[in-house]
Amino acid sequence: LRTAAVIPAAGRGVRLGPGVPKALRTLGGVPILVHAVRAMARARAVQVIVVVAPPDGTAEVRALLDAHGMPESTDIKVVAGGEARQESVRLGLAALPDDVDVVLVHDAARPLVPVDTVEAVAEAVRAGAPAVVPALPLADTVKTVDPDTGLVTGTPRRALLRAVQTPQGFDRATLVKAHDTVTHDVTDDASMVEQLGVPVQVVPGHEEAFKVTRPLDLVLAEAVLARRRA
Ligand code: CTP
Ligand code: MG
Repeated sequence: LRTAAVIPAAGRGVRLGPGVPKALRTLGGVPILVHAVRAMARARAVQVIVVVAPPDGTAEVRALLDAHGMPESTDIKVVAGGEARQESVRLGLAALPDDVDVVLVHDAARPLVPVDTVEAVAEAVRAGAPAVVPALPLADTVKTVDPDTGLVTGTPRRALLRAVQTPQGFDRATLVKAHDTVTHDVTDDASMVEQLGVPVQVVPGHEEAFKVTRPLDLVLAEAVLARRRA
């Protein structure tokens, strides 16, 4: 089975604050996107990578990847993304070579995902699961809230909740069908597959696969990187 990674990197990173697009910000002097591509390329399972760049940034992203030297063994394409993450992933899927059977979708904004997590997701799909997500238990208690009144409407039992990360792994045909069928807004790919009624398997996530979303996440990412280099 041939496995590809689609890396959506077309977001602006509004929650990180003003500046260059999030994927082009640096960690330890290296762009976040380059860390993410390396993390996926390091996985033995991954043979093809499609990077989904900001629509006006494909040439810049290509140049950046070439400048940082990517492994020869991985075939890396760069395509333009869309307005929403869902659209960016769909455009990435459309650029996959015909012979790919398994697709890992990985946020560029999760630059420090350990290779073991990537391999575990790929392995579970290759073993027959149509959809696989890495996930961790929550530290905080989560409540549902009515945004109009500011009143709490419920408290789901924390033991049943999981925070879901990427890479999320899929049988290619299942993921393509989900993207062709589900049109309303979603925040991850697995939720689209869930709506088809397809089972989604959970495997252990990793703390270092956290998403760089807000400024404090950059502080944490720099610290993790410094610890790895020590
Ligand atoms: N993404 C994308 N295309 C979009 C929006 C998001 O490819 N139109 C990508 C981001 O580049 C990121 C991943 O989806 O790697 C996860 O999204 P998120 O963390 O929300 O990043 P942004 O959308 O860039 O951040 P924000 O929501 O704060 O603007
Ligand atoms: Mg976003």
